[in-house]
Amino acid sequence: MSKSSTPSSRWLPSLAARAALAVLSLSTAIAEAAPIVEDSIAQRVQACTGCHGAEGRAAADGYYPRIAGKPAGYLHNQLLNFRDGRRQYPLMSELLQPLSDDYLLEIARHFSTLELPYPAPARPAAPQAVLARGEQLVRKGDDSKKIPACTGCHGDRLTGVAPAIPGLAGLPRDYVAAQLSGWKSGIRHADAPDCMAQIAQRMAPDDINAVAHWLSVQAVPAGGKPALAPDRPLTIRCGGVPATQMAPEGAR
Ligand code: HEC
Ligand code: HEC
Repeated sequence: MSKSSTPSSRWLPSLAARAALAVLSLSTAIAEAAPIVEDSIAQRVQACTGCHGAEGRAAADGYYPRIAGKPAGYLHNQLLNFRDGRRQYPLMSELLQPLSDDYLLEIARHFSTLELPYPAPARPAAPQAVLARGEQLVRKGDDSKKIPACTGCHGDRLTGVAPAIPGLAGLPRDYVAAQLSGWKSGIRHADAPDCMAQIAQRMAPDDINAVAHWLSVQAVPAGGKPALAPDRPLTIRCGGVPATQMAPEGAR
């Protein structure tokens, strides 16, 4: 079972309470939302921040991911993924069910424009050898397993690349491990070609663990803003990423 559908029991009480609140406030919000008025969006997304923390900056328990400041295209793709069943989290997917593509884009843009400070990174909780393996995979990849360097797409600063590639620096360890395991086991999907699924499938559980540990202890560089263009053109195609950011066919 995925972590996304079964958070460990210590989260359950607050989860149920938040979900109930969230469903209530989103349905009220939607009922009152027509016509869409730009300046009330912060109010209407209170249903989201009930789980995702104030203004979407992530809840303290580390289970609900930060959404504030992530690239708009990435957030929009995820809202479509949850609504249309390519990612699974029923409590949230149900909220998104009645919402149109355009409304989800408006929500995505709202959260992407928020500039909020990032918390200090986690303290290292793994042996140095594990962290070193994590850093090696992130910065250099592993040719013997055909794992590309993560920086090749997520940027040398690991803050992601607008519009569709998210940052990785400072993401909670459990979240990263759950997402990579989800892709590996077919629970999480992105639009085809699903490059992250291909990459995750080449990673052993130890590789996933090492990467998740190392990323979680990286400070987010000032502001954490995604780069506007990749450091180098992408050599592997990813669905949802503009074709203009890809290397020409022959160079891949
Ligand atoms: C009941 C709690 C809950 C509510 C309400 C909720 N979410 Fe989520 N959301 C989650 C959880 C948990 C995840 C991570 C699921 C996983 O592990 O894949 C998530 C994931 C996401 C992601 C993907 C983040 C990433 O970095 O990939 C986005 C975007 C998102 N939520 C936006 C929203 C928006 C917008 C709303 C309001 C319309 C909302 N959520 C309401 C719990 C919730
Ligand atoms: C070929 C480009 C590419 C490479 C190389 C790549 N990624 Fe990604 N990654 C993406 C794209 C595109 C997404 C957004 C997928 C989506 O829309 O769901 C993504 C999303 C992710 C996410 C989800 C973040 C979130 O907030 O939910 C994680 C975690 C991740 N990548 C980790 C890695 C790691 C670790 C590596 C290196 C081993 C790596 N990626 C290498 C393109 C890449």
